[in-house]
Amino acid sequence: MPTKHIAVIAGDGIGPEVISQGVKLLKAVPGLDAQFTEYPWGCEYYLKTGEMMPENGMELLKASDAIFLGAVGAPGVPDHVSLRDLLLKIRRGFDQYINLRPVKLLRGAPCPLKNARREDIDMVFIRENSEGEYAGAGERLYPGTPREVVLQTGVFSRHGTERVIRYAYNTARRMGKTLTSITKSNALNYSMVYWDEIFREVGRDYPDIKTHQYLVDAASMFMVMQPERFGVVVCSNLFGDILTDLGAAISGGMGLAAGANLNPEGVYPSMFEPIHGSAPDIAGRGIANPLATLWSVSQMLDHFGMPDEGAKVLAAMEDVLTEGRTLTPDLGGTASTSEVADAVIARYLSRKAA
Ligand code: NAD
Ligand code: IPM
Ligand code: MN
Repeated sequence: MPTKHIAVIAGDGIGPEVISQGVKLLKAVPGLDAQFTEYPWGCEYYLKTGEMMPENGMELLKASDAIFLGAVGAPGVPDHVSLRDLLLKIRRGFDQYINLRPVKLLRGAPCPLKNARREDIDMVFIRENSEGEYAGAGERLYPGTPREVVLQTGVFSRHGTERVIRYAYNTARRMGKTLTSITKSNALNYSMVYWDEIFREVGRDYPDIKTHQYLVDAASMFMVMQPERFGVVVCSNLFGDILTDLGAAISGGMGLAAGANLNPEGVYPSMFEPIHGSAPDIAGRGIANPLATLWSVSQMLDHFGMPDEGAKVLAAMEDVLTEGRTLTPDLGGTASTSEVADAVIARYLSRKAA
């Protein structure tokens, strides 16, 4: 295994608390020679310099094999500035057009749905990650006057829509799962009707894949009432954002949910992160759940072509969840962030030896 260069952007709030645990795990992976470069970018950096990352920031990241990101956002810096100038800038600048978010109820993880069986919650969300409602296209006209008009335009290109849908069909085929497309075509008569058209068009190349199409409101209801309906799911940027927080809620909470931002062609580095934010309400107390971050390490190992190691990380997390002795307060425990990560790493290494 050649050396892997990992750019680390710990970011704000609980970001550094959880990312340090992920780095600890990466350093423990046998056969992985990981070199870390840490970038102190985020809201503190912004308050000092007036920018979220330096002008040559993307250039600095470009040479890495992966980017490991904690969380961005702090009171005192408007969220639309901090997020658009760092997290979203990287996703878009590096054409990480696939946001892959597993919604899987791990062994031992708590589930608030009273009738769900563990195997019922086993989905892979593929969220469009480069355009759609997040394109940043819009205008504010006549600001501060009674004529004020605000436009926020969703952007759905053929190129962008086709490639994410094709990726989703391929994933469904590879995993032997159904594919569900989630839209809102009854109200969004241009963008979502177009998405549905492309979904059918690309689907002609995949007659072997069983598909479903739901409206996003009904899909939200089904995720809670009948989660077993879903296998691989594909949707637009905004719907994917919202539905994967719902997905987190039914599979152990925000402390467990991870996501990979992939540039599948490998022209640019991909980025791995917990999907939660900087959680200012618990930052600095050493009680943030590191499991989401450790899951994103598992995704990074898959990406590095080490899927056995990635699977072992998940299995080690399941061991710790099932034992239930070393959990952070969000999961009803009293352990610290580093105690949970240490427990997972110990389990991971003993699985190695076994
Ligand atoms: P959040 O995810 O930070 O927090 C929501 C709730 O979940 C909070 O009660 C928090 O304590 C809890 N939580 C989140 N992660 C946890 C963990 N690992 N362990 C235990 N509890 C955890 O979302 P928010 O409060 O809406 O946003 C806070 C800030 O984060 C905002 O500035 C927002 O813009 C930003 N944000 C950043 C990202 C990112 O960088 N990827 C994602 C979402 C939100
Ligand atoms: C996420 C986050 C981001 C998003 C925000 C912070 C811009 O909520 O990764 O889910 O909406 O993509
Ligand atoms: Mn989100």
